[in-house]
Amino acid sequence: MTSDTGVMLHEFLRSPMQVGAVAPSSRRLAAAVTAPVPEAGDPVVVELGPRTGAFTGLIQELLGGRGHHVAVEINPRLAESLGRRFPRVEVFNAKAAQLPRLLAACGHGTADVVISGLPWVSLPGRVQHETLCAVRDVLPVDGAFTTFGYVHTMRLAPARRFRRMLGVNFEEVVAGRTVWGNLPPAFVYHSRRPRDIKPIGRLYGPGGDGCKCATTAGAGRC
Ligand SMILES: C[S@@+](CC[C@H](N)C(=O)[O-])C[C@H]1O[C@@H](n2cnc3c(N)ncnc32)[C@H](O)[C@@H]1O
Repeated sequence: MTSDTGVMLHEFLRSPMQVGAVAPSSRRLAAAVTAPVPEAGDPVVVELGPRTGAFTGLIQELLGGRGHHVAVEINPRLAESLGRRFPRVEVFNAKAAQLPRLLAACGHGTADVVISGLPWVSLPGRVQHETLCAVRDVLPVDGAFTTFGYVHTMRLAPARRFRRMLGVNFEEVVAGRTVWGNLPPAFVYHSRRPRDIKPIGRLYGPGGDGCKCATTAGAGRC
């Protein structure tokens, strides 16, 4: 067992819903999820839920000292150890839904790319919604958002709700090929062109699983 797997297993046993998976993502999944990191310039790249850094190391390699890499991790032990391993990454021990405020605190109004390792399927509808709104709100029209899901959970209600929310919040959502070499097999959602959305009501609680929104494309449920 690698030390990363040991740390993850320990944190998974402490908080299975929040951590969401037992093993770190594979290099292949990391390559798919980090595809939108620009090859030139000084991009602002945000990473949500880095845990032990399965995507962090590759993002740092792709940036090669350029730009700004901000990571947001809710677990204080994981955030602290990630900050020590990757001194060039600005690590916040915070909720991903606080992203607009965190980015502002380090002098950035927007991000070029947001890469998520969050366990969307185990997050309550309210947290899914607030977090996705925070992501959408920090992305400019040409910004990109990538996240992954596991093949074995894609038909579960929270996974289908999350897919609907993606479609409400982004004009373009494309599911990539299954990464069979990942444990468990996973796929990446590539989302672009965040919509201009104004919330018009909440539908949480019994009978509701999201939020009513007005978008440029009409009213929807996100
Ligand atoms: C499935 S792990 C992904 C880790 C890594 N990116 C990978 O793919 O191996 C999910 C991570 O998201 C963190 N997390 C869960 N909810 C969060 C939230 N609301 N805000 C920030 N981080 C969160 C967990 O603590 C955990 O480190």
